[in-house]
Amino acid sequence: MKLLVKVNLALGVLFALGIGATAAVSRDLLQRNARAEVYENAKLLIENALAVRRYTSTHIAPLLETQIKYDFRPEMVSAYSALELLKNVREANAEYRQFQYREATLNPTNPANRAVQWESDIVNAFRNGAVASPMFGERDTPNGRMLYVAKPLKADSACLRCHDTAENAPTTMVAKYGSANGFGWKVGEIIGAQIVQIPESFALARAETTFRVFIGSLVGVLLAMALMLNGLLWWLCIRPITRISTLADRISLGEIDAPDFQRASRDEIGQLASALSRLRQSLVHAIRMLEA
Ligand code: HEC
Repeated sequence: MKLLVKVNLALGVLFALGIGATAAVSRDLLQRNARAEVYENAKLLIENALAVRRYTSTHIAPLLETQIKYDFRPEMVSAYSALELLKNVREANAEYRQFQYREATLNPTNPANRAVQWESDIVNAFRNGAVASPMFGERDTPNGRMLYVAKPLKADSACLRCHDTAENAPTTMVAKYGSANGFGWKVGEIIGAQIVQIPESFALARAETTFRVFIGSLVGVLLAMALMLNGLLWWLCIRPITRISTLADRISLGEIDAPDFQRASRDEIGQLASALSRLRQSLVHAIRMLEA
């Protein structure tokens, strides 16, 4: 087998092993990073929702105080504006369509916000102090695996204006939402949780893109190195050795006036050329003596 073929086979095996090991490690690392990034994004969404909540109760609600004597406007409710805002984000951006934001509540004013089983488990875990806030988790859904972040929602004294008893709440609000739900909350009580869910596929798709670019460039760099190695090998070894062996061939077939071996470099091949040149001289000398 030719030297170049042997070297390239060895390089091929080495590169394949190297790329395989790098791919296994980097894919795992990139997926973990993408997951962590998604959790950070989810935390930011929750903070956004909290900011909108605060803005609504400090800036918008006071403007509607007179209005709610006649007609209750949900626009003054912080929960409503936070939910609307995140709904808006989802509707305006196709890539965020599968993001979900919930204010899952055990005893909600609006039944649409009632915590379902797994959400109740989270709210109860917060109530029992079993988990720290924010809580990170994963769950399987019919639409694929979802990553979620949850943060407890606590009632304070200002909330009790509407969430204490139906008698104390604005009459227009009770007229709109009824007197059965969303009352009886206590100051300091965890009444629900903000939960942001993001599909795992969103994280994995990002990791996959980075992975492809990374492995693609690694393969590119290795191929370029292999090409350079081939060139060097040909230039430094194969070419001079082929020259020497062709000459040696001619001399071994009795062509004693073939040109002498040229020492073209100071390396081992140069030494070989010098040694063969001396050998040739001895050979020529011996032949001449035999002929004499
Ligand atoms: C002006 C009355 C009012 C005040 C004050 C108020 N809420 Fe509400 N809250 C409502 C109404 C009405 C809804 C239902 C909105 C809807 O979805 O239409 C609601 C909804 C919620 C929800 C969603 C679950 C549910 O009950 O439907 C949460 C959580 C919530 N409020 C928490 C709070 C907290 C915490 C505070 C205090 C920081 C607070 N609310 C202050 C009236 C009020």
